[in-house]
Amino acid sequence: MLPCHIAIIMDGNGRWACARKLPRVAGHRAGMETLRTIVHHAASIGLKWLTLYAFSSENWARPVDEVQCLLSLLKLFIHDDLFELRENNVRVHVIGKRSDLAKDIVVLLEKAEKLTTENTGLNLVVAFNYGSRDEIVRAVRKIAADITAGKIRGNDITNNLLTSYLDTAHIPDPDLIIRTSGEMRLSNFLLWQAAYSEFSFVPCCWPDFSVVDFEAAIANFYARERRFGNLKYTDDIRGSLL
Ligand code: FPP
Repeated sequence: MLPCHIAIIMDGNGRWACARKLPRVAGHRAGMETLRTIVHHAASIGLKWLTLYAFSSENWARPVDEVQCLLSLLKLFIHDDLFELRENNVRVHVIGKRSDLAKDIVVLLEKAEKLTTENTGLNLVVAFNYGSRDEIVRAVRKIAADITAGKIRGNDITNNLLTSYLDTAHIPDPDLIIRTSGEMRLSNFLLWQAAYSEFSFVPCCWPDFSVVDFEAAIANFYARERRFGNLKYTDDIRGSLL
């Protein structure tokens, strides 16, 4: 059996490029090839949910050419791969703040979601202009607006209610979060959703991450006992948390 949801922090593109005396953008381009390989593999083994951290709300602070490269890669990914994703029964979802993005990018993201909405295989979640704190702040503002409008009361606020206002409202929490490049932190990724996730920190940089590494992380996930704060894991406990 597979984990239901794997999320990946695709880190180390810059270091991969620097080690080869290449510009950082070459690392992102190489990382794009790894992304394609892993998405293809995840779909082929029947994974239900795969989330990829493609651009964080903090990444705008990077040099303009690097930001432009990442925006171009997103456009390229949707232009070049959308047809194949659709044919492979992949459903695309996008999380993150859209109001900061240029109109042409928002249109592309909406197109990717709309064209694949009927698909029932892998759910590919692209986290773009995503930051967990920003997501939580946006959710709290929506809750406050609904309280002001009289739609809900303060006492209605529960774990489940807050969850339902997040970008990930319709997405199960990640079972396994993989981060490449040896760094061991979440970097503002799925902070609320990762409450009971398992972590796999892989030493290689993202462009070198392979299907073998992906399978090893899954195998390692199975060696762990997940207790969700209880004494022993059962499917009932997992079900009650979802
Ligand atoms: C982190 O490496 C990676 C990113 C900020 C971007 C990840 C993007 C891709 C894998 C390709 C683009 C794909 C889409 C869909 C836009 P880093 O640059 O922080 O590496 P470093 O820590 O070595 O500097």
